[in-house]
Amino acid sequence: MEKEQLRELPVAVFDSGVGGVSVLRELAKILPNENYIYYGDSRHAPYGTKTLEEVRRLTFEHVGELFACGVKGLVIACNTATSAAVRLLRERYPGVPIVGIEPAVKPAACFKEHPSVLVLATPMTIREEKFRRLMERYEDQARIIPLPCPGLMEFIERGDLRGEDLRLYLSKLLSEYRENRVDAAVLGCTHYPFAKDLIQEVLGSKVRIFDGGEGTAREMKRRLAGEDLLSGRTEKGRVEFRNSLPDPEKIELCRKLFDSV
Ligand code: DGL
Repeated sequence: MEKEQLRELPVAVFDSGVGGVSVLRELAKILPNENYIYYGDSRHAPYGTKTLEEVRRLTFEHVGELFACGVKGLVIACNTATSAAVRLLRERYPGVPIVGIEPAVKPAACFKEHPSVLVLATPMTIREEKFRRLMERYEDQARIIPLPCPGLMEFIERGDLRGEDLRLYLSKLLSEYRENRVDAAVLGCTHYPFAKDLIQEVLGSKVRIFDGGEGTAREMKRRLAGEDLLSGRTEKGRVEFRNSLPDPEKIELCRKLFDSV
């Protein structure tokens, strides 16, 4: 395909469900003229409590479908799928820019002198080798406390962002860390930024909250620019939402999350 045609193909954004919309929002902010196809695998969510093999298989299957539609790059807007599959995906598709999100441990560990940093993520993200290596890299600079959060993404998948059940769940999950007992929290799953206000309320107002969405979007911009693949369009790009569940409410929820600030 000619470079000019390639430039105008959409960017694919993949997640296990609706959470990756938090990354898509950042992409649309810094690359507003690109077209996007967002694919959420809500039928098989959550990924974070599955086995490594299952997450790899599901990720390869859906990414394969996305590539078959013709896309010029892929953002894996899922920390869990990134830890399970990004390396293998890059091996399988060597010519395509593939950017995967990972927990924003680096900015959190460096924002002040030796902070205590709570990392909220799925059980798989925390268990995987990729996260262990990330933690090792910063453990001299910060006290890093990994916290698996099974059950948290399900609230966001249901569109429950502020309910009493979520508040109760977070109060229990974070009971040891309330009242500003940590300096920072990393939202290491792309669903969690949609519960940021409640997480902040439970942890305390002085806690700095980090997530990897913006950094991931910046990295995709850098990669596309490096490959001379940025769209030449001047009008606003289009976003197409797809989901493995044939449920119009899922698409509706994605749109609502995309439009929320
Ligand atoms: N949104 C995903 C992540 O960033 C995973 C949630 C899940 O499917 O468990 O890790």
